[in-house]
Amino acid sequence: MMFEFCKEALSAKHEVITASRQTGDVEVDIMDPESIRRMYESLPGLDACVCTAGTGYYGDFQTMTSAMMQPGIKGKLLGQINLVLIGKDYLNAEGSFTLTSGIAAQQPAKNGTTVAMINGGIDSFVKGAAQEL
Ligand SMILES: NC(=O)c1ccc[n+]([C@@H]2O[C@H](COP(=O)([O-])OP(=O)(O)OC[C@H]3O[C@@H](n4cnc5c(N)ncnc54)[C@H](OP(=O)(O)O)[C@@H]3O)[C@@H](O)[C@H]2O)c1
Repeated sequence: MMFEFCKEALSAKHEVITASRQTGDVEVDIMDPESIRRMYESLPGLDACVCTAGTGYYGDFQTMTSAMMQPGIKGKLLGQINLVLIGKDYLNAEGSFTLTSGIAAQQPAKNGTTVAMINGGIDSFVKGAAQEL
């Protein structure tokens, strides 16, 4: 959903190359750091990286386990963090990263503790990293 919206909005002024596991111009799985590195290696001279990929577990808190939280942590949280940690060595000077969190960081929904935690982690990572990039 946001993938298509961002592509359309940015295409008016920029050349946009999409990347995802199945439907992008370029293949990447942000859960895999080596896949991220291969993507950047194949796309020299990028000015910006915009990520809208990833989700997290929604479900009953009483029965939720840390294993249920792992895919979202590995994907939406660490995946986006790795896009920055790895990508900072590849983007052009003055390049930019845009990550996606969500309103759950400020207003968690019932059954949405995992997503609230992930979004809050992304927001805090961005605040910290922005000081040093
Ligand atoms: N939709 C909402 O109302 C809403 C609200 C708040 C926050 N958000 C956040 O906004 C972001 C986008 O939401 P959305 O609704 O647009 O999600 P979506 O429709 O599920 O789209 C996700 C996109 O990311 C790609 N993707 C998923 N996992 C990937 C991975 N491991 N590596 C590479 N690409 C991956 C998918 O393509 P492939 O399957 O081809 O990989 C797909 O194009 C998410 O972070 C979501 O949590 C959404």
